[in-house]
Amino acid sequence: MSDIHHSGEYVLGSRTVKRLGYGAMQLAGPDVFGPPADKNAALTVLRDAVSAGVNHIDTSDFYGPHITNQLICEALYPYPDDLTIVTKVGARRGNDGSWLPAASAQELTQAVHDNLRNLRLPVLDVVNLRIMIDRYAPAEGSIEAPLKTLAQLQQQGLIRHIGLSNVTPAQVAQAQTMVSVACVQNMYNIINRRDDALIDELARQQIAYVPYFPLGGLTPVQSTTLQKVAKTLGATVMQVALAWLLRRAANILLIPGTSSPEHLRENLNAASLTLTDENLEELNNLI
Ligand SMILES: NC(=O)c1ccc[n+]([C@@H]2O[C@H](COP(=O)([O-])OP(=O)(O)OC[C@H]3O[C@@H](n4cnc5c(N)ncnc54)[C@H](OP(=O)(O)O)[C@@H]3O)[C@@H](O)[C@H]2O)c1
Repeated sequence: MSDIHHSGEYVLGSRTVKRLGYGAMQLAGPDVFGPPADKNAALTVLRDAVSAGVNHIDTSDFYGPHITNQLICEALYPYPDDLTIVTKVGARRGNDGSWLPAASAQELTQAVHDNLRNLRLPVLDVVNLRIMIDRYAPAEGSIEAPLKTLAQLQQQGLIRHIGLSNVTPAQVAQAQTMVSVACVQNMYNIINRRDDALIDELARQQIAYVPYFPLGGLTPVQSTTLQKVAKTLGATVMQVALAWLLRRAANILLIPGTSSPEHLRENLNAASLTLTDENLEELNNLI
């Protein structure tokens, strides 16, 4: 497997992590609901990721729910000293698998305790507040009330660092009047670059930006330019999409998701892929 040190490093919360990490959402069952069809494959993906040097795993207790965190614990506990597990709160699952807001003080407190129990941790490294004003995209509105609850949980010693997910630049600014923001996790990839200005602003402030759907999520990234560059480099489209993100800004941390040990290997190998200036220009202009 490739040396993922080539991805570089960046500060996330209390620690420096490799810029190529792993997103655990795909380990739950279909539609991120219930257990996986192949539990052993899920445990293998987690162990392979850490063996390959991954030291940043993204998760949530609402994946499954509970399932993904329980798999992480079963596969990796006791955790390596350098592993940073980032979780998120602010949503819950309905009995039918729907994704619902869960941002009351009681729900957030319960979610933090659920994460602590299922991950078997005394304190959570980084907790992202997932804003659900609009489930699919950042939407304006005050985030003061839920953030106040998370800040209290942080003061109680249950959370080390607070991050934000699915937020607008105005909400990041609002949060920064209340807490120190460790990272922002919004949708972004080579095709969907709505957050370009926010990424640059966070880079200026040395705050990590962690794009979700780095490979396009439910709609895998694709374009003739991506295919062409991949062919030139003897790489896959997914690897080029990840390599482009690594080049896009030094504060971008990657958490590509997969339930497959083969895809994991392919994704981690993107750390060693070097884009030429010509490749980069073509890729920058593909949208
Ligand atoms: N904050 C939020 O609101 C939010 C939302 C969504 C996700 N997330 C986080 O972001 C992480 C990444 O997002 P994601 O997993 O939804 O999307 P993603 O990383 O963009 O793509 C995952 C999809 O791509 C497939 N895939 C992965 N590697 C591949 C490869 N090499 N070749 C072909 N297909 C490949 C996966 O299927 P296989 O399993 O078959 O490989 C899966 O269907 C998640 O794991 C989660 O931790 C956060």
